[in-house]
Amino acid sequence: VGYDGFANVGEVIGEGVMEPVIGWDGVRVFAGDCRDVLRELPDNSVDSVVTDPPYELGFMGKKWDSSGIAYDVTVWEECLRVLKPGGHLLAFGGSRTYHRLGVAIEDAGFEIRDNIAWIYGSGFPKSLDVSKAIDKRAGAEREVIGMKNAGIGTGQSYGIIVGEREKVSTTEVPVTAPATSEAEAWEGWGTALKPAHEPIVVGRKPLTGTVAENVLEWGVGGLNIDGSRIGSELRFSPPGGIPNGANNYVNTDKNRNSDYPSKMVQGRWPANVIFDEMTAGLLNAQSGVSKSPKTITRSSSRNSDYNFGFDNQVDTYGDSGGASRFFYVAKASKRDRNEGLEELEDSAPLAGRSSTTGDAATLHVSNSKNPVKNFHPTVKPTALMRYLVKLITPPGGVVLDPFTGSGSTGKAAILEGFKFVGVELTEDYLPIIEGRLKWARDNVDDGTLF
Ligand SMILES: C[S@@+](CC[C@H](N)C(=O)[O-])C[C@H]1O[C@@H](n2cnc3c(N)ncnc32)[C@H](O)[C@@H]1O
Repeated sequence: VGYDGFANVGEVIGEGVMEPVIGWDGVRVFAGDCRDVLRELPDNSVDSVVTDPPYELGFMGKKWDSSGIAYDVTVWEECLRVLKPGGHLLAFGGSRTYHRLGVAIEDAGFEIRDNIAWIYGSGFPKSLDVSKAIDKRAGAEREVIGMKNAGIGTGQSYGIIVGEREKVSTTEVPVTAPATSEAEAWEGWGTALKPAHEPIVVGRKPLTGTVAENVLEWGVGGLNIDGSRIGSELRFSPPGGIPNGANNYVNTDKNRNSDYPSKMVQGRWPANVIFDEMTAGLLNAQSGVSKSPKTITRSSSRNSDYNFGFDNQVDTYGDSGGASRFFYVAKASKRDRNEGLEELEDSAPLAGRSSTTGDAATLHVSNSKNPVKNFHPTVKPTALMRYLVKLITPPGGVVLDPFTGSGSTGKAAILEGFKFVGVELTEDYLPIIEGRLKWARDNVDDGTLF
């Protein structure tokens, strides 16, 4: 009680209607069911909703992942009510259950604007081996005919470098031969694909009036395109100066001609596809190096209010590299999950925890065999969350996450200079949220992550 930093949300707390379990200037985290907590928040009081609700798969035996809450229209109706008109919502979904989440969000009154594909390389297929299942059913023993590398996460060992680690499995698993003719006929058949993407619903609360009227009245309604461009960088004059104009700037300051000022070159238009480092590496290995032209003659006139993003469609950046340079690539940090949690006790390694009811995995889980402080099973990378909150939230705005988990949205929001309101049902996660958000508060940098 008595925190400031909010206009509307703060009034509710000041009246003592509801107290946050974690809070300081600009940060509130409430414990409980988000349907109850959101009801206490005022209309039109937050600027964006960025959330990762349960995928409703019973992941790792978690009850919170099979309650049906993500499909409950009342959750999204409350999000709609507390969001300012024109405000955006981003909600992650599982690739098997995304459609029901999207329908619930739409039925609540959101306009579905798009979906973003978050593409990652750490998923592993949880696929039933049909041939083995047939032999098992017949009670037939399969002969072990060799051993093979188990691979990590990818179902195959690519041996690519991710950060400082080489992702190659050292675990060997037996290779068996079919014991029955039916099993032989079904050799090579499975039941699931390797999970490699999660769709993110992009919704918007209906505007009041036009986009122009709405942004002027409410301060929301648009996407922060320039703030989210991919590969914006400082370029320099080459030794010979810049005889032919802007396109002769270079992206290294070696031998620069300091008689000419450097120039900030805007990156590419943000796309509705985002990669992690592993998939970006695979993409680049496939595409090889390509070169983008520096100039192009345009014949189109731009006498419309719409910006069709020509700068991006006809690529004029004059740079070269792998194909991942067209997309945002969220860098993973090994420290991210446990930053700020030094005081907490170690918990069992996530890799050792087994799923009791989990179906085909559509979530990627840490492979770490070391004890962890943050034992939440579905932690999103902070770089990814920073990019997403920045895309839809006006400077200094309030970000809401009704399914806070271990606090990744909040950590990202605080690091980007936003205010944060979170709700979390599972009490065990509250100390993790508190540690991570305080770490973010104490480590706000200048925001130049991208
Ligand atoms: C997928 S996790 C979010 C993980 C988070 N993105 C992170 O990086 O740590 C979803 C969270 O929603 C919480 N949850 C489930 N039902 C809820 C409810 N009715 N109200 C609030 N939180 C709920 C679960 O306890 C779980 O921590």
